Amino acid sequence: MTMLEVEGLTKSYVRRRDVFGRATDRVDAVSGVSLMLGRGETLAIVGESGAGKSTVGRLILRLIEPHQGRILLDGVDLRALSRSQLRASRRHMQMIFQDPFSSLDPRMTIGESVAEPMLLHLGLPKAERKERAGALLRRVGLDETYADRLPAGLSGGQLQRVAIARALTLNPKIIVCDEPVAALDVSVRAQVLNLMAELQEEFGVSYLFISHDLSIVRAISDRVAVMSKGRIVETGPTEQIFGAPVDDYTIELIRAIPRLAHALTPVSGAFAEGRARHAVGE
Ligand SMILES: Nc1ncnc2c1ncn2[C@@H]1O[C@H](COP(=O)(O)OP(=O)(O)O)[C@@H](O)[C@H]1O
Ligand SMILES: [Mg+2]
Repeated sequence: MTMLEVEGLTKSYVRRRDVFGRATDRVDAVSGVSLMLGRGETLAIVGESGAGKSTVGRLILRLIEPHQGRILLDGVDLRALSRSQLRASRRHMQMIFQDPFSSLDPRMTIGESVAEPMLLHLGLPKAERKERAGALLRRVGLDETYADRLPAGLSGGQLQRVAIARALTLNPKIIVCDEPVAALDVSVRAQVLNLMAELQEEFGVSYLFISHDLSIVRAISDRVAVMSKGRIVETGPTEQIFGAPVDDYTIELIRAIPRLAHALTPVSGAFAEGRARHAVGE
């Protein structure tokens, strides 16, 4: 069943303006991108830096406005919604960023950060927010002592666990994960990826998983969309993309994966993957 459907998404940024403030030069960040994401599925968007991956994620969450295109979330056209409807629909779409520290308010305790969406969207009373936040924190591996701490005292891996708990608070339909483990120590990447996989099963949430790292993508995604210069050049089931890539750009990307990671295929989950990366010494 389709959870997210994106059709012909297009966005350009202004690179230069004249003295009257008119755009004289634009960069086409995303050009006619279409994709589908099933319920409980992980679709990876891969491609080199500057390919337009993050822009696609931000467009889908309506953090920025597309020039063209349609976004259907669980059958609802997001562009047709009023402001208040859009605000209400936000609970169904969450985002996890590469840098967990900058995605959390440094003055709020961990418990407050996780509980906040329940106040904004559900208006739950304080005691209930606190209890649910505590349960979520425990579920991501952080005991109750973390609830009263500030982000500054936590490691990158712990902060990303907090960001994951916060993203799950409202039981969203999709989570856009933009390079969620790229900034983490190699030794904790596999743990966080495994946790994300477990939570996906439990919550039935769909992941749009943005990454430039193909060995991680191979381990965690059901399907892959390869992006280059603002366009999707190839898309298909993960095993097809890695086993029988068709597009020249895809072939080039796969060739660039470290040899050892190749040798360990088939990868049997995020944990094996983490070890593979560790062995390569990245
Ligand atoms: N806010 C912005 N203003 C101007 N150009 C931008 C902005 N954000 C991204 N770009 C440009 O759009 C293109 C795609 O960027 P991005 O979506 O961040 O790619 P990726 O996430 O794949 O690295 C790049 O050329 C980038 O320089
Ligand atoms: Mg990016």
